[in-house]
Amino acid sequence: MIGWLAARMLPLVPRSVVRRVASRYVAGEDLTTAIEVVRTLNARGYEATLDVLGEHAKDTAVADRTVEEYLNVLARIREQSLRSNISLKLTHLGLHLDRDATTQRLIRIAEQARDQGNFVRIDMEDSSVTDVTLAIYRELRARDLPVGAVLQAYLRRTVEDAENLARLGANVRLCKGIYREPRTIAFHDREEVRASFLRAAEALLTSGDAYVAFATHDRPLVERCLALVSRLGVPSRRFEFQALLGVPVEDLLDRLVAQGFRVRVYVPFGVDWYPYASRRLRENPQVASYVLKQMFAPRGVTGHPG
Ligand code: FDA
Repeated sequence: MIGWLAARMLPLVPRSVVRRVASRYVAGEDLTTAIEVVRTLNARGYEATLDVLGEHAKDTAVADRTVEEYLNVLARIREQSLRSNISLKLTHLGLHLDRDATTQRLIRIAEQARDQGNFVRIDMEDSSVTDVTLAIYRELRARDLPVGAVLQAYLRRTVEDAENLARLGANVRLCKGIYREPRTIAFHDREEVRASFLRAAEALLTSGDAYVAFATHDRPLVERCLALVSRLGVPSRRFEFQALLGVPVEDLLDRLVAQGFRVRVYVPFGVDWYPYASRRLRENPQVASYVLKQMFAPRGVTGHPG
């Protein structure tokens, strides 16, 4: 209840408070700091995916600048021999402004990724852009560019999308989904979302050569994914696990690495951290209640986010 309340009040919380409690989820404001985070993760046996924070570019100048930022990220990954790919959002590349220009921007980034043997993950945003995001993904695949899609298990359509992407031999990150979607199109029940996640995973893994990134911190679900790949006899080169920076599941990730599985951490950085940080806070009831305490407690009261 307190988490629910705090999540709804988040827009009223001063940015300085949000920044403090959300800092664990963001690698920093600049690329150099984020690179250091990736280097540390690599040294611990993890892969990474670097994300330049930002979404809903308001004009073409922002969208064009985002391309340059990603090209720079790719160049630094290559120069420093990091084990990292990149993740991006199409609205950050101007999807709400001009679809064709967005596709061209993505092609530029994906061509550089291809030339240096890297890979671009297209994050999935809210349901208003699901179709267009998957369509652009397919356009790039048709050009043999190294891109991957994301499917959100909470959407009722996802198992069918998984079956379609399986036929393409797609590389798919599977997550639960973070945006607020109505019951008409999305499952709200936790068990239904888990069941959809596993059905979509099975559709992808029984296809032949699709690749699945299981992106969840839900421990029972991770165990069920492990049981699934074992039951289907899927070799470990066809899947990986993914987690978000700052979510406290290191013990689980370390165990997966020790078992020989590939584990990738999502490393977001940049100055436009607020929307991403707010979503992460909404997902952590302990942090939400911490925010409430920060707002209503007498000055000087501190605590530690969970
Ligand atoms: P769930 O929310 O049930 O969390 C399981 C447990 O993890 C919680 O009980 C808690 O212990 C812990 N936990 C989760 N979030 C936490 C937090 N913020 N702080 C502290 N503890 C936390 N979504 C989307 O719509 N489009 C996308 O492109 C992506 N991309 C993406 C990439 C990667 C690598 C991951 C891991 C996730 C995404 N997501 C996403 C987000 C995803 O849809 C989902 O919202 C979150 O992963 C939380 O869901 P879980 O599966 O972790 O389960």
